[in-house]
Amino acid sequence: MKISTTALPSGEKIPTFGIGTWRMGEQRAHRRAETDAVRLAIDLGVTLIDTAEMYGDGHAEEIVGEAIRRRRDGLFIVSKVLPSNASAKGTITACDRSLKRLGIDCIDLYLLHWPGSHPLAATIGAFEELRTRKKIRHWGVSNFDLPDMKELSALVPGAACASNQVLYNLARRGIEHSLVPWSLARGMPIMAYSPIDQARLLSHRSLKAVATSLNATPSQVALAWLLRQPATIVIPKATDPDHLRENLGSLGIALTDQALRDLDRAFPPPRGPVPLEVL
Ligand SMILES: NC(=O)c1ccc[n+]([C@@H]2O[C@H](COP(=O)([O-])OP(=O)(O)OC[C@H]3O[C@@H](n4cnc5c(N)ncnc54)[C@H](OP(=O)(O)O)[C@@H]3O)[C@@H](O)[C@H]2O)c1
Repeated sequence: MKISTTALPSGEKIPTFGIGTWRMGEQRAHRRAETDAVRLAIDLGVTLIDTAEMYGDGHAEEIVGEAIRRRRDGLFIVSKVLPSNASAKGTITACDRSLKRLGIDCIDLYLLHWPGSHPLAATIGAFEELRTRKKIRHWGVSNFDLPDMKELSALVPGAACASNQVLYNLARRGIEHSLVPWSLARGMPIMAYSPIDQARLLSHRSLKAVATSLNATPSQVALAWLLRQPATIVIPKATDPDHLRENLGSLGIALTDQALRDLDRAFPPPRGPVPLEVL
């Protein structure tokens, strides 16, 4: 099944379906299975891989590095700097460490993991320097609510920030009120993390009923619903190969008008401003 694309503010197209790697690299005994999971995703056509220096204390980046060795071309690698490291100098050295663990020369999209105490201008200055030195191609943010985005856009031209990675799924629709429209108006895609709410969504009765009516699974419906939203990228994490295959099956699910109405009833959109939820 073909993965569709969405445009970054620069105009570059990136896939709307990728994989996450949080909780990978935490246990040595799982390392082989986790590396195999990333490899399988690439074999099945996934090219966007999301990781972070925080995950497994750097071991998740090593797993991604191992999985993409000798096949880096055509992949879009996303990683993140910890806010505690995001000073002017600290961002550069954190990026160098991530590049080493990933075994690559350049990260495609480098994000500030969440707003921290270092001045945003210092982090952005470092991102721009990394871009000039061709160690990253794009930069962006994560867990930024609307006031954070407004602060950011006062510092840099609108198109400089490539994306905001935030918690977004059927059960967490608060961002639809203002953060999503604000971002889309600036051509900035939303990268939806925990798109199946870390599997908690899958036992929801109404979601199961909609899935049954479509001859699909709850995970496929939850992901297909996000993929219908404009300029939205999903990054489900799956170490289990059956989960990965199942999630890729979301690409072929067409949600009917009735299914969309049922989902809206079970998971209502926000009626007013809602602060960004964070995991
Ligand atoms: N920027 C941030 O602050 C932030 C925060 C959270 C997450 N993220 C990123 O977003 C990615 C995805 O979010 P997430 O890992 O929190 O949650 P998620 O993708 O919503 O859920 C992952 C969990 O669901 C299970 N799962 C996956 N597909 C399944 C299926 N079809 N049926 C049943 N269970 C299934 C996985 O199990 P198995 O692994 O056993 O297959 C795993 O336990 C992360 O990995 C990370 O890269 C970013």
